[in-house]
Amino acid sequence: MCGIVAAVADRNIVPVLIEGLRKLEYRGYDSAGLAVHEGAGAAAGPLRRLRAVGRVAELAARAEGLSARSGIAHTRWATHGVPSERNAHPHVSGGLALVHNGIIENYAEIKARLAGLGYVFASETDTEAIAHLVEHKLKAQDDLLAAVRAACAELVGAYAIAVLCEREPQRIVVARQGAPLLLGIGEDGHYAASDAAALLQVTRTLVHLEDGDIAEISRDGARVVRPDGAPVERPSHESALDAGAVELGHYRHYMQKEIFEQPQALANTLEMIGAAQSAAPQLFGAGAEEMLGDVRSVLILACGTSYHAGLTARYWIEQLAGLPCSVEIASEYRYRSSVPHPQALVVAISQSGETADTLAALRHARALGQSRTLAICNVPESAIVRAAALKFLTRAGPEIGVASTKAFTTQLAALFLLAVVLARLNGRIDAREEAAHLAAMRRLPLAVGRVLELEQDIAAWARLFAGRQHALFLGRGLHYPIALEGALKLKEISYIHAEAYAAGELKHGPLALVDKDMPVVAVAPNDALLEKLKSNLQEVQARGGELFVFADAGCAIAESEGVRIIRMPEHYGLLSPVLHVVPLQLLAYHAALAKGTDVDKPRNLAKSVTVE
Ligand code: M6R
Repeated sequence: MCGIVAAVADRNIVPVLIEGLRKLEYRGYDSAGLAVHEGAGAAAGPLRRLRAVGRVAELAARAEGLSARSGIAHTRWATHGVPSERNAHPHVSGGLALVHNGIIENYAEIKARLAGLGYVFASETDTEAIAHLVEHKLKAQDDLLAAVRAACAELVGAYAIAVLCEREPQRIVVARQGAPLLLGIGEDGHYAASDAAALLQVTRTLVHLEDGDIAEISRDGARVVRPDGAPVERPSHESALDAGAVELGHYRHYMQKEIFEQPQALANTLEMIGAAQSAAPQLFGAGAEEMLGDVRSVLILACGTSYHAGLTARYWIEQLAGLPCSVEIASEYRYRSSVPHPQALVVAISQSGETADTLAALRHARALGQSRTLAICNVPESAIVRAAALKFLTRAGPEIGVASTKAFTTQLAALFLLAVVLARLNGRIDAREEAAHLAAMRRLPLAVGRVLELEQDIAAWARLFAGRQHALFLGRGLHYPIALEGALKLKEISYIHAEAYAAGELKHGPLALVDKDMPVVAVAPNDALLEKLKSNLQEVQARGGELFVFADAGCAIAESEGVRIIRMPEHYGLLSPVLHVVPLQLLAYHAALAKGTDVDKPRNLAKSVTVE
C-alpha cells in the first residue's frame, strides 16, 4: 500500500527519498511523488513538487539534478480517485505539502466545509482535504506542529502523514493514527518512514510512534507530543533487519527467492526450540503459561494467506489439544455480533502486523472482553504485536513479494508449536509424543528443501496452465486449506481464475465446471483420507477433466490418460501441509512467469493492506 519517506539532513536528501521509495515499492503502488525545498538552509527556495504515474524510476528520472536538505516522498496505492498525476501525493495547500497513508472517513465533510471557505480542490483524494485543513489551521496557529495537531483532532479514520512547509524548510511534522510510522535517528539528520526498510540506507536507530503521536523532525533532533500537546518519550532501538535481506541476489523475483528461503526461514523460526524435548509455553511470551493454561477454546482471526494458515491450524488444535477452534476472516468478525468467550484464546495471524482488518478484529475481540490474545507475526513492533498480550514472532525475514510464501510456512510452524503447547498443557499428549512432534518440526527445513528440488517438473506443468482461463484445486482435511492457498497463489500472480474445494464438495456443485479444458490440481498426501480423495478424482476423470496430482511417495495413485503425477519425496504426517504448499507456490510462480505477469507486484494488490 502507500508508503512515506521524509528526511531533513545535512546532505542532499533527494537520493535518500528516491532510494526509500524504491525500498517501499514491494508494498504495491500506482504513482509516486515528492516535495522538497530546493537548495539549503536559509537559502532554501520554494517548495518543488514532482509526481509521476507508474514506477518510482519515472519519478527518479524527473528528479535528476534536484538537490535539497528537506523533503517528503510517497508511493500511492489508489483508494479515492484513479491512479493519475493529479491524484498522486504530495498534495499542496498554500505553502505546504503533505503525504498520507490510510483513509480519512470524514473527508467529504471536511472538503465541503473548506470548499465553502474558498479552498480549491485539485484532486479526488481524501488526502487533499488534510492538506487544506492543516493550511487552514496554520493561518490561526502560525506553528506547523500546532496546526497539524489541531487538524488531526478533526480527522476520523486511519492515517500516517508527513507535512513540509515553505516557511520552515528545516522542519517536518509527522503524525500517526492507525497506520505505521517510525522515525530514524541519523548522524547527519532525522528521517521518518512508514516502513523500516526505507530507512536502513541511512540509519538503524529507529523510534516507533504510537497511535495519536505527532512528531517533528529537524536536522538536529526529533520531538514527539500527544494529541493534547504533552511531550512524550518514545524509546529508540537498533533495527535487527538485515539490509541485504531485501536484495534480490541471484534470483529473478522476490517471490522465487522467498520460496527458496523457506528452509532457512523455518530453521530460524524453530531455532528457539533448539534441541529441547519439550516446548515451553513462554515461547509465546511472558505470562503465557498462565494465560494458556485454562484456555477452553481458540478463535483465530486473519486475512488472505494468514487466514489459510489459521484454517490449517484448526485441524491441529482440535486434533492435538482437543480444544474447539474457530477461524474467522478478520473483516467479517469485526462487524459481526459474536458471542465472546472469556476463556477463549484469540489468535491474530499476520505477516505484516499492520493489516487494518486483522488489527481492528483483534481490538474488537478485546473490546468484547477477550483478554487472552496472541499475535503470530513476522514484524516485531508492528501494531498487531503491540495490541496483543502474547506474541510469537516468526523469523521469515522481510517478505517483499506480494504473494506470501515463507511467511505462510513459518506461520504454520508457529501454529503447530502452539497446538503442541496447548496439547501438553491440556494433558492430551505425553512427553514422548511432544518430543516426537518437536523432532518432526526440527526436520522440516530439510524436508522442505527436498520438495524444492521438484521445481523443474513443476515448471513444466506450469507452462500448461499459462494458456488456461480457470483452474480447480482440490484437497481434503488438513490439505483443504492448502488447496485454498494454492488457488489464491495462482489467481493473485497469474490472474488465472482459480477456486479451491474440499474434494468431497465436488459433486455438490463444482463438478459441473469440469470438462477437458478445466485443469484440476489435487493435493494428495498419503493420509487417512487418500481413498476418499481417489474416488473424488475418479469423478473428475470420468468427466474428461485433466488432473495434476501432487501425491506423496508410496501413495497408490498411478499416472494414466488425463492423470499427471508429481511425487512428493515423503509423507510428513500432521506437518504435511508445510510441504504440500511448496509445489503449489512454485506452480503459481512458474505459471505467472510463463504468462509474463508482474510476479512481485501483481496488479491492484498491495503487500501490506493498511486500509479497510
Ligand atoms: O500481512 P498479513 O498476513 O496480515 O496479510 C494478509 C493478506 O493481505 C495477505 O496474506 C495476502 O492475502 C497475500 N497477498 C496473499 O499472498
